[in-house]
Amino acid sequence: MNIIKVKDQAEGGKKAFELIQSAMKERNAKVLGLATGSSPITMYEEMVKSDVDFSDMVAINLDEYVGLSETDSQSYRVFMNENLFNKKPFKNSYVPNGMAKNAEEECERYDSIIEENPIDLQILGIGTNGHIGFNEPGTPFDSLTRKVDLVESTIESNKRFFEKKEDVPTQAYSMGIGSIMKAKEIVLVAYGESKVNALKGMIEGEMTEDCPASALQKHPNVTVIADEAALAGLSSL
Ligand code: GLP
Repeated sequence: MNIIKVKDQAEGGKKAFELIQSAMKERNAKVLGLATGSSPITMYEEMVKSDVDFSDMVAINLDEYVGLSETDSQSYRVFMNENLFNKKPFKNSYVPNGMAKNAEEECERYDSIIEENPIDLQILGIGTNGHIGFNEPGTPFDSLTRKVDLVESTIESNKRFFEKKEDVPTQAYSMGIGSIMKAKEIVLVAYGESKVNALKGMIEGEMTEDCPASALQKHPNVTVIADEAALAGLSSL
């Protein structure tokens, strides 16, 4: 894994956007896999500020909460619209449908979208427990899109975005680790001391389903952009 140490999240956002631009220029990247959470926000700010045109590009998001509609202010669809798509239109932007009546059909639909639009560059954040997307510890490395149960620590970390903990959905649709691994390039952003153990497990730990992000050790093109606090647990840097 290539590790880029940045001084703060603002610099991290710039670096991540530079990698997107290189992929667009050098590899003619047309499909971006995108992530929610607070970590990629500065990258979206850079994209919005730039004069880069994304209108012939496709965006495929990692996940969505089950039970939240695409107009619910807490949904990942609204997060993406507000932080990026409303300001920088893409040709198509896909987010799982949290209100789908039939979960199995929704997962198949989403997997077909990923199949038809191979991801050139996938942006990831990381959960404090090492999850990527909403692939919690124990997720098979070859998994596809599924309806998942969120673990207590994820609900606890994500409650900051909701009025109260009881409002945090307990399930989500998530792109699988198998699909994430098929992306040609992966850029993972992580900041702050709460991510120390997750990054240590991902980069230096054993490759195990207990740390979903450790699957990335097998991927040939991963860049981790992180600040000093998040990288503090690494023995070599
Ligand atoms: C959620 C998202 C993940 C994200 C994680 C970390 O669980 N499903 O994709 O990586 O939050 O979020 P943050 O960047 O806010 O720490």
